[in-house]
Order: sequence, then C-alpha cells, then structure tokens
Amino acid sequence: MSTNRPIKVGLLKQSELEEAGRIVRLAFGTFLGLPNPLDFMGDRNLMTPRWRSTHVKVIAAREGGRLIGSNVATRWGSFGFFGPLTVLPEYWDRGVAQRLLEATMTIFDRWGVRHTGLFTFPQSAKHVGLYQKFGYWPRYLTAIMTRTPEANTAPQAKPANAPALLSAFTKSQREQAIQACGKLTHKIDKGLDLAGEIRAVLAQRTGGVVLTYTRGVLDAFAVCLNGPGSEGGEKTCYVKFGAARGGAGAGERFDKLLDACEAFASSRGATVEAGVNLAREDAYRRMRSHGYRVTMQGVAMQSPHADGFNRADVYVIDDWR
Ligand SMILES: CC(C)(COP(=O)(O)OP(=O)(O)OC[C@H]1O[C@@H](n2cnc3c(N)ncnc32)[C@H](O)[C@@H]1OP(=O)(O)O)[C@@H](O)C(=O)NCCC(=O)NCCS
Repeated sequence: MSTNRPIKVGLLKQSELEEAGRIVRLAFGTFLGLPNPLDFMGDRNLMTPRWRSTHVKVIAAREGGRLIGSNVATRWGSFGFFGPLTVLPEYWDRGVAQRLLEATMTIFDRWGVRHTGLFTFPQSAKHVGLYQKFGYWPRYLTAIMTRTPEANTAPQAKPANAPALLSAFTKSQREQAIQACGKLTHKIDKGLDLAGEIRAVLAQRTGGVVLTYTRGVLDAFAVCLNGPGSEGGEKTCYVKFGAARGGAGAGERFDKLLDACEAFASSRGATVEAGVNLAREDAYRRMRSHGYRVTMQGVAMQSPHADGFNRADVYVIDDWR
C-alpha cells in the first residue's frame, strides 16, 4: 500500500539489492503485461553486477524507509547513460521517477560527462514525455538483435587471427590492452572509455572481453556478459559494448568482431544478444547479413540532441538499457 509520506532519495544499500531487483522485474513485467511479471528477464541480473562496479551509481527512492524505486547511472568516460529506471507499480504517476531523475542528473553533472542517453519504449507517450522534461530528445531506434551461433562440435585448429580473451593476458598485457581499447573508443567519440566496464567483468568474472588484432594492432573489442548472476544469465551472451576501429576497413573489422563474439558465445553454449543504434547504418546492415534478427527495439534519447557516437561511420554495439 502506498501512503503519502515524504519520499527520500539516496544511494542504494547492499541490503536493498534483492528488493531492487524484484522491483525491476515487477515494474517492467507489469508495464509489458507479462502473465507473471516477476519472470521478466529470466535469470539475468541487471542490478547486482552494476551495483558492484566503480563506474556505476545506483540511486534509490524510499518512503518511510521502504524501497519503492531505483535508477542506475553508468559512466563510460565522457558519456553517461541511465537505466533501468523503475518504480513500484502502486507508486506510479506520483513523481517518484522524477525524483530519481533529478538525483541522476546531479550525478551526471558531478561526473562532468559531455553527452548522456537512455533507451526507452518509443510507443509510450509517458516515457518519452518524462525524459523530455530532463532535456532528452528521441533520435534513432536501437535494435536489440540476437543470433544463436552453431555449436562448437569438432575441435578445430586455432586460426592465426583467432580472437584473444583479456582474461588470458598477463597483468601488464591487460593494462596495455585496456589502454588500447580507450584509444580506440576515444577516436570514435572524444573521451569515450570502457575501462570501468572492462575491469568490472574481469573482477566479477561475469563474462569475457574479446579482442581482435592485426599484426599486434587492436582492431576491435567487445565486453560479453554471460554466466550465473551476470547481465546475460546462463543462456545469453549479452554484448554490453563492442567497437571496431574506425576508418578504411572498419566494416570488415566489425565483421570479425561479430565472429569473435559468436565464437565466445558458442564456447559457452549461449545466444548472442547485441544492440545497435540504427544511425550506425552499415553496422546494422552487417549484423543483419550475419544472420542477426531484431527481437525488440527501443528509441535512443540523447542530451544534448546531437549524434554523439550514433553516426553512420561508427561500428559500435551497445543499447544503453
Ligand atoms: C516509467 C516509470 C519509471 C515512471 O515512473 P513514475 O514514478 O510513474 O513517473 P513520474 O510520476 O515521476 O512521471 C510521470 C511523467 O510522465 C510524463 N507523462 C505521463 N504521461 C504523459 C503523456 N501522455 N504525454 C507526455 N508526458 C507524459 C509527465 O511528464 C509525467 O509527469 P508530470 O505529470 O508530473 O509532468 C514507471 O512507470 C515504471 O517503473 N515503469 C515500468 C518500467 C519502465 O518502463 N521503466 C522505464 C524504462 S525506460
């Protein structure tokens, strides 16, 4: 039962993580009309791994000490995004999300990020209107795409350009590779940096970071989340972020990155799930040619109302959920 006591906003405590996860499922499951709302996202966990990451802040809304909603702010260097934003259904339309968003905007200001964004339901006037109040504008669709790679049956000789796994590197090789990833993304969009995301996967063992090289030069990398307690869960290899070096030959480097993600997914018996913004026209077309099908789509809302790294010359996989 909702009451009319004041709503307080602060950082989410560890002891509230489980309830926050339950509210995420209940809120989305209710909005989407699932027969059992708590089934939303199956065994995938969008809250715990993020809460444990240093590049993420999780904000909580409470009434009389009871958790009633939360939002997650993620920093990728000069870029920030938020979500999942959820409020207990019995508290909807009372301004709780707006309180969480005010706190989120304060965090973005403190981080000094240049560009921020979110992924939402394009058909919902409420969602689009809510985010417009905070300076966001709807731009291109983002397609969430999936492909199940063929199972790794016969053992094969390792090809010369087989993808590398960051976890197999020595400590100093890892640091070099993380720096190279930062340089690659900085060239795509000034200050874009996935170091936080990469370090979180290594520390929490919630998946793998695949890298492809040509003669020692980094061509592309992807952060793939999979396994119990991860954002992908046991059956999905969720490509949270992937990027191929831009310029001549970028499309071919992106194709090889898709192969690398698929090889990783297949080694774990998982389906690849990868999102791409439709402003990245060639990247989207290449994913379709690779056999990816769109399972759902949302709209990217951005502030300021500018391209950022949603451009035709960009070969990036992400979805900002
Ligand atoms: C989406 C959600 C977080 C909103 O939470 P909420 O606490 O109900 O939202 P608030 O009451 O703070 O804000 C609602 C705002 O939506 C906007 N809005 C609602 N209907 C609107 C319409 N028809 N046209 C334009 N704007 C509209 C308004 O700005 C309204 O605030 P206002 O009336 O004070 O101006 C909540 O409904 C939820 O948990 N949904 C399920 C999960 C989900 O969809 N999360 C977001 C994914 S991107």
